[in-house]
Amino acid sequence: MKKFLKLIALVLTIAMAACCFAACSKDKSNETENNAEAPEADNVLTVATNAEFPPFEYIENGEVVGADVDLANAIAEKLGMELEITNIDFDAALTGAATGKYDVAIAGITANDDRKKNMNFSEDYYKASQAIIVMADSEIAAAADLKGKTIACQEGTTGEQYLLDNKYEIMSFKTGAEAVSALTSGKVQAVVIDNAVAKALSEKQEGKTVVLDEALTEEAYAIALELGNDELTQKINGALKELKDSGELAKIFESYELPYDAE
Ligand code: ARG
Repeated sequence: MKKFLKLIALVLTIAMAACCFAACSKDKSNETENNAEAPEADNVLTVATNAEFPPFEYIENGEVVGADVDLANAIAEKLGMELEITNIDFDAALTGAATGKYDVAIAGITANDDRKKNMNFSEDYYKASQAIIVMADSEIAAAADLKGKTIACQEGTTGEQYLLDNKYEIMSFKTGAEAVSALTSGKVQAVVIDNAVAKALSEKQEGKTVVLDEALTEEAYAIALELGNDELTQKINGALKELKDSGELAKIFESYELPYDAE
């Protein structure tokens, strides 16, 4: 009987080893499949964005659309690459590009000296500023009136940085739309966000809110890449230049009613 049990154990061991072997070789075949796809993957431009920033990037019918998306498409076309867009939080889009998880981040990103320490930037493609949204009946009429008020902004943005640098009381939100809700529900007295986005978000409030004329900063948007990825940065700059020179870039922005003055 003991011998019989030993025999069964032996048979089982052999059977398990055979299974393992089969599984391993199956993995191998997957690997070769992946390898076979590798050259194609090289031809995909992976783009991180945060589609909470109309009219540069936003969701329409479940799809990420906007001026930055058109720009990304135009660049990919010039480079002969396919486009793959991933919609994530703004700070994750920035780190995703900085660490090379994505080839680029295109998200109305202000190229500033702080960020340039951690990532590459293309040439600028759009001029922007930080603007103030307040309730239509607000007593705040200019930046000077913001003293002592609580101000909402989007997390990880240059708007947030401006408010922190100037020691304002702030509430940061994942999205600009949430910041505007905090304003309309009386939790804060103002929102600071990029000018064109301020206009787009405020228009949705149908007269309840207004954007003040005064600009708090002067900024310029550029495409973010991994620090040191100079090869792709140069390629993108080449494509951007062609799009600027041909007037295609101006056309993209104008189609979203974004004023564009070529440099
Ligand atoms: N221009 C600002 C910045 O770079 C805000 C950008 C926010 N973009 C977005 N897609 N949510 O910090």
